[in-house]
Amino acid sequence: MKFLKENENTQRYIDNIFSVVNAAKADPEAINATAGCLYDEEGKLFTYNCVGEADRSITEMQRSAYAASPAGNKEYVDLVCDFVLEGKVSNSHVAIASAGGTGAIYMAIKTCLSDGDTIIYPEISWGNYRVIANENNLEVLTYDVYDLNDLFNKIDMAPGKVFLIANSPCENPLGHAYSMNEWKAIMAKLNNLNKEVILLCDIAYIDYAREREYFSLFNEISDNVLVILAASCSKAFSYYGQRLGLMIAINNDKEFLDLYLNLCSRLARATWSNLNNAGMLSVAKVLKENKDGYLKELSEAREMLKKRTDLFIRQADDCGLELYTFCDGFFVTLKMKDNESRDEAHKLLLDNHIYTIKVNKGIRVALCSTPLKVVDGLAYKIKELL
Ligand SMILES: Cc1ncc(COP(=O)(O)O)c(C=O)c1O
Repeated sequence: MKFLKENENTQRYIDNIFSVVNAAKADPEAINATAGCLYDEEGKLFTYNCVGEADRSITEMQRSAYAASPAGNKEYVDLVCDFVLEGKVSNSHVAIASAGGTGAIYMAIKTCLSDGDTIIYPEISWGNYRVIANENNLEVLTYDVYDLNDLFNKIDMAPGKVFLIANSPCENPLGHAYSMNEWKAIMAKLNNLNKEVILLCDIAYIDYAREREYFSLFNEISDNVLVILAASCSKAFSYYGQRLGLMIAINNDKEFLDLYLNLCSRLARATWSNLNNAGMLSVAKVLKENKDGYLKELSEAREMLKKRTDLFIRQADDCGLELYTFCDGFFVTLKMKDNESRDEAHKLLLDNHIYTIKVNKGIRVALCSTPLKVVDGLAYKIKELL
């Protein structure tokens, strides 16, 4: 097409999430379970007091200034890296700041995959993986997160190198998490493949789960395995609009990692050039000066979320509303037979002012953005309508 590069994807991009979010905002009677952000019990976006305090201490000059380098401010990178790893990774690793968790995923894909390569991600997953795969002309294989054999089959089916995305714990939208034994089996499978493997762990929501013990398995990876962690400040610090995250690459070869960090820095320079300086200063200040205060607020936020998910699941069980098995996280997902019945059910809910998000073979209910008093009885209402 005129002006555009050869083979540019000219299919119209429709963002299914933001259109329903906006429809919900316009409906005064809405039960709004659409937003993938944490809201408080008053129905307002949840913010961390310690982050707000740190934000207020940033000077105008700091806010206006460029960050120290395209790879981010060193203090931010080091502190967030330590915060994410919690001392569990002794293997060689490097870290670079990114534009949200999305930026980390972008860098991993841009640096490791070429047109026509295959990417493997969960069958029911964050819709953006598909958008990113299309944008990069990748072939896609999907797997069932509840069935390790299916995952292993897909790994075996992938031609060329294996590029696997795992979004555990708090999988969006299922709330699924692999147990330590499952992680051991996954790592054994990847370590014993006779080809290159990139394991991209999307840990956007990890701070809302109980543990990250499985990181210790990254100390025993084979030389063929590169582990990339994509962390997000959007969720961890309720910092959605500030667009900050961190990519951590783990591998046995220090020399490779040094080169990898360098080429990621170049990619960052060529893509966003520089990140949000004030945001990086704030997050670093919180982790350096008020980590305990932050952890206390985080634990309260986690508790608030858990009360909602516990209540919804208890009431869903009580009335026989079928859900996918949930461990932790921002969302629960109603199980649908197929995407036709999903569309009907989703429309029925919309017609009754219940706003949710369609996902593959399911309907995502964002309990993260629904106060407990609204959650109470919601499963019964949905069951009755469906
Ligand atoms: C599964 C998953 N991964 C990554 C992200 C990235 O978020 P951000 O780019 O805002 O850090 C999101 C955001 O919704 C998500 O749901």
